[in-house]
Amino acid sequence: MDLDAFIVGLPKAELHIHIEGSLEPEMMFALARRNGVALPFASVEALRAAYSFTRLQDFLDLYYQGAEVLRTDEDFRDLALAYAARAAADGVVHAEVFFDPQTHTARGIPFSVVAEGLLAGLAAARERHGLTARLILCFLRHLSEEDAFAALRAAEPWLDRIAGVGLDSSEVGHPPEKFVRVFAAAGERGLRRVAHAGEEGPPDYVRQALDLLHIDRVDHGNRALEDPALVDRLAREAMTLTVCPLSNLRLCVVDAIADHPIGRMLKLGLRATVNSDDPAYFGGYVADNYRAVAPLLSREDLVTLARNSFLGSFLPAAEITRHVAAVEAFTEGERL
Ligand code: ADE
Ligand code: ZN
Repeated sequence: MDLDAFIVGLPKAELHIHIEGSLEPEMMFALARRNGVALPFASVEALRAAYSFTRLQDFLDLYYQGAEVLRTDEDFRDLALAYAARAAADGVVHAEVFFDPQTHTARGIPFSVVAEGLLAGLAAARERHGLTARLILCFLRHLSEEDAFAALRAAEPWLDRIAGVGLDSSEVGHPPEKFVRVFAAAGERGLRRVAHAGEEGPPDYVRQALDLLHIDRVDHGNRALEDPALVDRLAREAMTLTVCPLSNLRLCVVDAIADHPIGRMLKLGLRATVNSDDPAYFGGYVADNYRAVAPLLSREDLVTLARNSFLGSFLPAAEITRHVAAVEAFTEGERL
């Protein structure tokens, strides 16, 4: 089987995707028109040309601006369904999807519009594409913990349909310790916990996320590699890292894809996975991310990444077993 068919055919879960980061320029313009929102770009091409970043904040500024076209439950439904269709075409059979409610409630869009729209889109995706999905509510770390608590309170009626909470946005200067109480409150409500850590922030932020926020997964985690004791701990605890190669390239977390540490992570025994982060902004969905790092890896490594994506998911144990068996069945008869 050729490499591309192998990558697409491998059953995969996606564990690090911001739904607002899947807003393609074409849809951004269509929603701007539908909702009467003025965009500060003359065309789709001009917008795409602006997607040139030297660090996380450059991207975040455009990402929050782009999200302003999302107004109605139909917009959120369309966004979720478009992502799911694209992911399913890449062989994604399960997705755990981040959303940033504070980005929307701060503009006067009710939490109910965001949640109901996204849930409707994901339900339609299951019908049409057979892809299962869960939502993860991310707190914006550049805002206060009080603001995060307000988001958690607003989410209360939907918590049975939300798998967990996460922490995203500007990392440096906003350490995990800022959110200890709200993560504890989320844990008390039975929610799973994840956090972006070690994307631009130091290894100590990864430690804080583990020790103070009690996270189940590390989102990114690249800079943990600077700390051998931390690497040993992450490997020993079989902590899942949701790694995003094209994001790392476009946000200058790595200088070149050839320098990407994904192979090193696997060799160190880390439970790394490959994900798209913000595919509309970083030039690729999940299969593009696998393709980008494939020259650095063996086929066995690609299978490990796919297997890890299910092992690190929040699916019930029986579902994980079923998906891992499907990964093994797919690779049977292939010379790895
Ligand atoms: N929000 C969307 N994508 C993000 C990323 N890669 N890091 C932090 N916050 C984000
Ligand atoms: Zn992210």
